[in-house]
Amino acid sequence: MASFTRILEDETPSIAINPRNKYAKINDNIYGGFTEHMGRCIYGGIYDPGNPLSDESGFRKDVIDAFKELKVPVVRYPGGNFVATYHWLDGVGPKEQRPKRPELAWLGTEPNRFGTDEFMKWCEIVGTEPYLCLNFGTGTLDEALGWLEYCNSTQDTYYANLRRKNGREKPYNVKYWALGNECWGPWQVAQLTKEDYAKKAYQWAKALKLLDPSITLILCGETGYSSWDYYVLKECVKWDVHGLGGDRTKSLIDMHSIHIYTADKEHLPNATAPRAAERAIQMASALIDLARIENKVPPSVPRQTICFDEWNVWDPSRAPGEEGAEEKYTLSDALAVAIFLNAFIRQAKDMGMANIAQSVNVISPLMTTKGGVVKQTTWWPLLLFAKYMRGHAIALNVVSAEYSGRTNPEWIRGTIETPYLDCSAAISEDGYMNMAVVNVHENKDFDTKLEGLKTEKVEVFRVTGENVNVANTESEQKVGIEESRWNGQGHFTFAKHSFTLLRWKECE
Ligand code: AHR
Repeated sequence: MASFTRILEDETPSIAINPRNKYAKINDNIYGGFTEHMGRCIYGGIYDPGNPLSDESGFRKDVIDAFKELKVPVVRYPGGNFVATYHWLDGVGPKEQRPKRPELAWLGTEPNRFGTDEFMKWCEIVGTEPYLCLNFGTGTLDEALGWLEYCNSTQDTYYANLRRKNGREKPYNVKYWALGNECWGPWQVAQLTKEDYAKKAYQWAKALKLLDPSITLILCGETGYSSWDYYVLKECVKWDVHGLGGDRTKSLIDMHSIHIYTADKEHLPNATAPRAAERAIQMASALIDLARIENKVPPSVPRQTICFDEWNVWDPSRAPGEEGAEEKYTLSDALAVAIFLNAFIRQAKDMGMANIAQSVNVISPLMTTKGGVVKQTTWWPLLLFAKYMRGHAIALNVVSAEYSGRTNPEWIRGTIETPYLDCSAAISEDGYMNMAVVNVHENKDFDTKLEGLKTEKVEVFRVTGENVNVANTESEQKVGIEESRWNGQGHFTFAKHSFTLLRWKECE
């Protein structure tokens, strides 16, 4: 939460901070990842057998280290669009017996050398939770129930025994399950109308929760502000105890998924585009309330949260999905990523999860080469957020000039502001205050008054570069983190086109 007051560009900006203004717990799952069978994400990304950098299971160790560095709490799998024709049974059991299949989302061939058991093993090594997405395209409810049984059941039943036969006695206890991916999209194999989707999702949810009531189910929303979102929430966020063993404190649907990718050729529309994502969260949150009010869901049923399970900067015309979507990210894109993350902190009350799309090679901050990994510009703000912006979100009062030009999408203008200084703050459990500030201005530094800061020891982490178009390559890292210290005296200068994280211990 940040209140915003607009001033002129030549006036002095200020940010008022009070560590007591905690307003929401930040869910660690906002730093979630996403790995899809797409391009070089799985094959050549997390799984690269034969590469000297891989372990005996074929998992790239440098990629595992990168996930650990980000402390990625949860990883979505196996898609994305890929999942609409994925049959999980193709990917379990002896590898030589697994079928190769045509892959219809990205028009490739799926070898099925990496499947459920490999993913679960990889998650255990990384120390992250799996989040599985169900096939709402060519898949059946029987298949979905079979997958849930395979992953979570301790019973003496067919799929639980198949898991044991494949070498895994203990259940994987997969908590997060998505009821399809982007089922509204014309690019889907077996696209659904909102009416057909809602009916199907509700029935599947009931059956899945009858099999395992402990799971968290994620409804397939769109952008958060569409008639699809309104309709599916209205039809599925109900107080219906049939699938819940009569428990009046639970609901079939626990989270609502939304996806937004942003991009623009010009810096300021590009960097400020994630403000649309923030407005989308606010609108989706209101639709959740509306569904609950209209359906008379009592407050004893926990409020559904938002699962922003695909977000990033992506322009599919410059990095087509069918060609692996290997976006090259600039400093401008890194600032956009920081604004997405600021939005997740500011909207912490509503955020149950967010997953950067994607985690390796495909529209990703992390790129593998044969000999190592390249950290793109977008890696650096993500790393600083993931390391420090945890705990509780702190309310801020921001007084800043505002960018007033073209936005992308256009509707940002008039629905949400686009300040040059985009800020969020968090206080960690051990009493560290962390303030994240993006200065999107291309050529103006802002000397800023920090009201309420009472310390002489501030750690400063800054991500910037020569200009907004610089990018990192295998041979040259032009954007990284510059570390320094500040004595807390006078004004702090937020440099042009930079992301800064200020960190201090509150009691000192
Ligand atoms: O992340 C790339 C693709 O973007 C996903 O497969 C799909 O869900 C979205 O359209």
